[in-house]
Amino acid sequence: MKVLVTGGLGFIGSHTVVELQNQGFEVVAVDNLSNSSETVVDGITRITGTKPLFENIDLRNKSQVQELFLRHADMAGVIHFAASKAVGESVENPLLYYENNINSLVYLLQEITKLPQANFIFSSSCTVYGQAEKMPITEDAPIQPAVSPYGNTKQIGEEIIKDTAKVTSLNSILLRYFNPIGAHPSAEIGELPLGVPQNLVPFITQTAMGIRKELSVFGNDYPTPDGTCIRDYIHVVDLAKAHVVALQRLLQNEQTEKVETFNLGTGKGSSVLEVIQTFEKVTGQKLAYKIVDRRPGDVIQAYASTQKAKQVLGWQTELSLEDALASAWKWEQKVRS
Ligand code: NAD
Ligand code: WQD
Repeated sequence: MKVLVTGGLGFIGSHTVVELQNQGFEVVAVDNLSNSSETVVDGITRITGTKPLFENIDLRNKSQVQELFLRHADMAGVIHFAASKAVGESVENPLLYYENNINSLVYLLQEITKLPQANFIFSSSCTVYGQAEKMPITEDAPIQPAVSPYGNTKQIGEEIIKDTAKVTSLNSILLRYFNPIGAHPSAEIGELPLGVPQNLVPFITQTAMGIRKELSVFGNDYPTPDGTCIRDYIHVVDLAKAHVVALQRLLQNEQTEKVETFNLGTGKGSSVLEVIQTFEKVTGQKLAYKIVDRRPGDVIQAYASTQKAKQVLGWQTELSLEDALASAWKWEQKVRS
């Protein structure tokens, strides 16, 4: 059964391609290589023994998207990862983010809804909850006004999908990721941030590697037990597996609503200092860090209620923060070797 994975050579997309191929799906990985490299195809092939078909397509190009769907009219579904994802950059250049994240989505939906059954999985984010009032965060927690154009593209993306599903063949699952980290345990694929990493774990591994002088911890005066922010860090391999389960739900017509939403997290919150300590413990590396001012826009804490994903999808995480940090470190060493 053929599945189209947009952003299939990116961080989460590549791990999902591996899990799909492990489950026997035929994958078409669509990517414009704006934040990835074609060598990822080789990594996926080494892990699974199967080379995914790679389509070098820019989803902002409507005619390229139309032609893609003509070539793969036999697809059973689309998992849509492709997007620009740097929060700070989206503030600097909002139109780039609206163009990429919204136009690509619209063009894909215009094509997929021509199919009698349009199965579509969308990468959303816990950022839609902003600073939620109650922890853990359930899927019915209110959506807060977006603090960045990036976050706004996820909120608008969810709305576009809901509006479209009301009047077309579209069935969709919106997956709201918490903080994906780590790499495949083989270290054949992982995260490849361009330039200075904005996210905590790549910054930690690059610091331990000597590429960055020290990690800046953004604030230790938050109302949390150790004063640093709390997040729900989920191993990318666990996250990838959830996409296979969600796809199977769509393919087997098990949905109770045309658009369903699930949080994907571990349910456990970890502070920045806990992440640093765990990294030091599992890798034996001492990490240079200093406390600096808060980063504007950061929420104090965010961790997922995992109940709905557990009960409805039958999915839950299997890997620990230790596993994730060990794999991120193994990957960082491999990339630099
Ligand atoms: P990534 O940048 O590693 O992967 C995205 C891939 O999409 C890249 O390979 C990029 O080259 C490709 N791409 C971007 N624009 C494209 C276009 N116009 N046409 C074709 N390909 C295009 O990012 P990721 O971390 O794997 O994130 C995947 C998805 O998950 C994104 O939608 C992101 O917003 C969402 N998400 C990520 C996180 C996170 O922390 N990583 C958290 C929540 C949600
Ligand atoms: C985690 C914690 C920082 C870097 C972002 C996006 C969000 C989602 C996931 C896509 C925070 C602290 C970080 C550093 C630090 N992406 N930190 N020093 O902010 O939870 O979420 O990625 O949808 O939309 O905003 O993740 O990894 O940037 O930060 O102290 O150098 O680490 O303050 O508490 P965040 P992050």
